Amino acid sequence: MARKIVVTSALPYANGPIHLGHLVEYLQTDIWVRFQKLNGNSCYYFCADDTHGTPIMIRAKDEGIKPEDLIERVHTEHLRDFTSFGIEFDNYYSTHSDENRQFSELIYNRSVESGAIAKKTIELAYCDNCKMWLPDRYIRGTCPRCKAEDQYGDSCDACGGTHQPTELINPVCANCGTEPVRRESVHYFFKLANYEKQLKKLIEEGYTQTSVLNKLEEWFRTGLKDWDISRDGPYFGFKIPGEEDKYFYVWLDAPIGYMASCKNYCDRHGLDFDNVWNSDEYELYHFIGKDIMYFHALFWPAMLMSANFKTANKLFVHGFLTVNGQKMSKSKGTFIKAETYLNHLDPEYLRFYYASKLTATIDDIDMNLEDFLLKINSDLVGKLANLASRSGPMLTKKLDGKLGKLDDQGKRLMEKLTAAKDEIIKNYEQLNYAAVIRTVAALADESNRYFDARQPWTTIKTDPETTRTTLTAALNAVRVLTIYLKPVLPMYAEKIEAFLNIDSLAFSDVGQILQEHKINEFARLVERVEKEKVDAMIDESKDSDAKQVTPPQVTLDEPIEAECTIEDFMKVDLRVAKVVLAEAVEGADKLLHLELDIGGIKKNVFAGIAKAYDPQELVGKQVICVANLKPRKMKFGLSEGMILAAGPGGKDIFMLNIDQGAQPGQRVH
Ligand code: MSP
Ligand code: ZN
Repeated sequence: MARKIVVTSALPYANGPIHLGHLVEYLQTDIWVRFQKLNGNSCYYFCADDTHGTPIMIRAKDEGIKPEDLIERVHTEHLRDFTSFGIEFDNYYSTHSDENRQFSELIYNRSVESGAIAKKTIELAYCDNCKMWLPDRYIRGTCPRCKAEDQYGDSCDACGGTHQPTELINPVCANCGTEPVRRESVHYFFKLANYEKQLKKLIEEGYTQTSVLNKLEEWFRTGLKDWDISRDGPYFGFKIPGEEDKYFYVWLDAPIGYMASCKNYCDRHGLDFDNVWNSDEYELYHFIGKDIMYFHALFWPAMLMSANFKTANKLFVHGFLTVNGQKMSKSKGTFIKAETYLNHLDPEYLRFYYASKLTATIDDIDMNLEDFLLKINSDLVGKLANLASRSGPMLTKKLDGKLGKLDDQGKRLMEKLTAAKDEIIKNYEQLNYAAVIRTVAALADESNRYFDARQPWTTIKTDPETTRTTLTAALNAVRVLTIYLKPVLPMYAEKIEAFLNIDSLAFSDVGQILQEHKINEFARLVERVEKEKVDAMIDESKDSDAKQVTPPQVTLDEPIEAECTIEDFMKVDLRVAKVVLAEAVEGADKLLHLELDIGGIKKNVFAGIAKAYDPQELVGKQVICVANLKPRKMKFGLSEGMILAAGPGGKDIFMLNIDQGAQPGQRVH
């Protein structure tokens, strides 16, 4: 009996483009879904953009647009890229939707009722200048371990260590450079440990691949901690019911987006959502990458349990893409966007290549560009397409395009090919696409050997009917191999169907033989990959990165402040001041302590110019100082004024200095 299946892929973040790393997942899933459909099962593939959270809010602000506009634009771009790669969702929705809001509230309310939610007061970093809470990634500072500057609040790129944002030396807000303050706030927590027993049982029953069990055991061993599911405003997301300025953390509503996408589809197609999503009639599978396992193996099923929804039959976890054996890198040009790839290469090359590498393990998948070239040219073009291109045209040009009947040798060849069906189906089902491709390549070799042995290019001169018999077997082989590859190469399969003049192929067609049938004119199937095109793609990937770095920013990263009248401005009392003392400040590598003489009056000033000026060179210089600035207590002492200096920051700060023709204390305008 046909199975009914619901499949999801992780929801890509709406703050960036789809790249070849993402495509490992969406192609792995799409191939599986297509396989299920071609094997007679009913299968729905749901996905969406993951639209909430701080990075999206900040990106929109940087671009000077509303987050709603940003996520709408990105949705179009994502869907365009997926479609170009033949990734066919039954619904590609958004987490910023009514359905998702409703389900998020429903699941939250139910988990409150089941006692899974706790309220706690915690201390967090806050930027007084940006009026914003700062996630770890938005705090930067010097690494407490290796002292590398400008590192994230949670980890250091230089030494690879992890730390707490509170351990950073000279922490600053990544957005504006101000030192964050610690502030208290009430947050909501999901009590994950309440579900420990149920989660263990779920995993024992085979929720994940065995290769990820070690990781899960480690998590259980170190103890399941309460999970903070709330964020204070400003935040782009859904408000928590009953709260004024608190929102669900993006990772709470993101997986609920799977349900929202399903619900939206069901409503538009007259299907009963509860039945499709939550009954035993349908199997449910999630495909994800190994970086988001904690969320999908622990938080997500626990949330569903707390709210009385069923959990998935299985979580399929895949590894990460490396290019030429290394992490994708912008400087090497191996951080390749889907869009860039498509400017140079055929999407089906990538489908074929990834399939040839994919297994059910969580090992990383390496895209070696030389190997890529070789596999496409030798297997896809040289073995598979070649069999079709040397039999099809001969039949149409010399033999009226009419297939004949199989002889015994032809029948034996077809028996070999059809006998592989069960194994191929099993390998698709178990995500062993690499094994499928190996089998298909071996069968193509076998078919090409048959072709070579029968020498149709010679027999055509003397014995047209024997030639017809040969080509009939060869084209039947093409047809069966096409069925086997159709989940991987949907567009290639369509071209073969058109030229063989047959209906859309499925796995149930494997056993049939096409005889005494008229085929159509042959059309080219797939080109050889040229190295120049691969090089050009790498080049463009390098370029687009350089372009991102060099041009001046056209959008304002901070909006222009409220108007200030000339009268307001005249209140600022500017005086010539002589630097009497300048010294570094212990524990603050951006600050210099200056002592200024403003015509007999001494003022203490802390200035953020340490990166730009050497204290020694300042002593004796005359600068301009705001003499009437209200004194301010700082961590290092009282600051009683401000010297005029401006610039983007770091080394690029420029001080006004007037050494000639002015006296300390003199007013300047
Ligand atoms: N938005 C979250 C997922 C929420 S699911 C409720 C997220 N988004 S993502 O855009 O960063 O990644 C989407 C999927 O692509 C994830 O499963 C992730 O593992 C996968 N990949 C992203 N980069 C990848 C590689 N370089 N290699 C393989 N898969 C990668 O995580
Ligand atoms: Zn800030």
